[in-house]
Amino acid sequence: MSTSEQPALLGGPRACDFDWPAWPVHGPAERERLLAVLESGRWWYGEQVRTFERAFAAFQGARFGVSCTNGTTAIEMALRAVGVIEGDEVIVPPYTFIATASAVITVGAVPVFADIDPETLCLDPAAVAERITERTRAIIPVHVGGRMADMAALNALAARHGLAVVEDAAHAWGSQWQGRGAGTLGACGTFSFQVSKNITAGEGGILVTDNAELAELARSFSHCGRREGGAWYDHDWLGSNLRMTEFQAAVLLAQLERLPDQIRRREANARLLERGLAGLPGLRLPRPAPEMTRRSYHMFIFRVDEGELGLSRDRFLDALQAEGVPATEGWYRPLYRNRLFAEAHVGPPHGIRAPLAGKGVDYRAVACPVCERVCREAVWIPHPVLLAEPWQIERLIEAVAKVVTHAARLR
Ligand SMILES: Cc1ncc(COP(=O)(O)O)c(C=O)c1O
Repeated sequence: MSTSEQPALLGGPRACDFDWPAWPVHGPAERERLLAVLESGRWWYGEQVRTFERAFAAFQGARFGVSCTNGTTAIEMALRAVGVIEGDEVIVPPYTFIATASAVITVGAVPVFADIDPETLCLDPAAVAERITERTRAIIPVHVGGRMADMAALNALAARHGLAVVEDAAHAWGSQWQGRGAGTLGACGTFSFQVSKNITAGEGGILVTDNAELAELARSFSHCGRREGGAWYDHDWLGSNLRMTEFQAAVLLAQLERLPDQIRRREANARLLERGLAGLPGLRLPRPAPEMTRRSYHMFIFRVDEGELGLSRDRFLDALQAEGVPATEGWYRPLYRNRLFAEAHVGPPHGIRAPLAGKGVDYRAVACPVCERVCREAVWIPHPVLLAEPWQIERLIEAVAKVVTHAARLR
C-alpha cells in the first residue's frame, strides 16, 4: 500500500480493509460481576455502588465520589451543590454536548457562552473573563475528548471573582493536569459512563470532589434529599432520585480495571498518529495544554485547512471513509445555534419548550468565531480506533496521506 495508489473514492483499493475494534468492550470480568449481583438479590444502591464510587474517586485522585444516573444529572447535581440558583449566570463553552448547557437551565440558571481556545479546543480563559458579570456564579470548563481546559488560568479567574468551577469531565476519565486528575482541580468534576464513553455501563455518571460538604450535598440531592445517618423518611433538603444500580456499578468496576491499560494503548497509538499526520499539508494538529501529563482520548481531533489542502473538509471525510477510516466531522455545532437558544427570547415560558423565555436572554447575537471555525474544520476519529494494533494505525496514516496526496483529483 502506498500513497501513489488510486484513492478508494476514485475506485482504488481501500487502505483500511479490516474491521476496527468494536465498542463497548467486555469480558469474563463484567459477566462474573454482573452474575454475582444478579444472584445475590442485592440489586439496589449498595456495596457495589459504594465500592465503585471509592475506586473511581481514587482513580481520579479525589477524596469523594457520588454516583448518579448519567453525566447530565451529574452536572445538575454539581451546580446545585455549589449553590447555583435561579437567575444566576453560568459560563459554558459552545463546543460541547447539550448537557453542559441544558443542566444550567434545568437548575434555573442562564448559560452564557464563551469561546474556545483554538489549540486546547476547550474554554478560553480570556473569553471567559469578558463574559463575567455580577450575576455570574460558576464556570463549566469541558475537557473535550479528554483534552483539558487551562485549569490554572480558569481557577485563578474564578478565585478573583468568587466563582465556582465545575469541570465537565464527561470525556476525561484518567486525564491529568500536572499529575492531578481531571475533576479534582475545580470545586468538583463530573463524568459520564454512557455507552459511547471509554468506561461504560450503558448509562451512569459520577461527581468527584475533595470537599466533604459538597459531596454530602450532592449525595443528598441524588438520594431524595436524605442525609447520611438520617431517618429514612426525613428529607432535609431538595432531592431527586439519581441512584445508580448495583448492576451498573458491577460493570463499571470491571471496566475500571481495564481502563489504565486502554489509556496506555490509546496514548501510544495517538502518538503514532500524531507523528504520522504532522507535516501533511493542509492538516492542523491542535496542541493540548502542555501541563497535561496524561490524556484520555474520547476522540482524536485534528483540523483541515481547506485552502491549503485544496479540498473541502466534507469531501476529505468522504475520501477517508471510502478508505475505511471511521472519521467524522464530530457531533458538535455551536451549541447556541440550537433552537433551544436561537429562539430562547420567544415566549410564552414553558418548562420544556421555552425554559429561558422571560429571563431577558437573547442568543441571536452570540458569536464564538473560534468554535464556529473548529466546527467547520474538525475531523474526529473515535476512541475505539485507538485500541487497534499499531500496524492498523499505520494504515490509517497511509489512508490520510493518500487522500492528501490526491486532494486535487478528489475535488
Ligand atoms: C461533554 C459532555 N458533557 C455531558 C455529557 C452528558 O453525559 P450523559 O450522556 O451521560 O448524560 C456528555 C455526553 O455525551 C458529554 O459529551
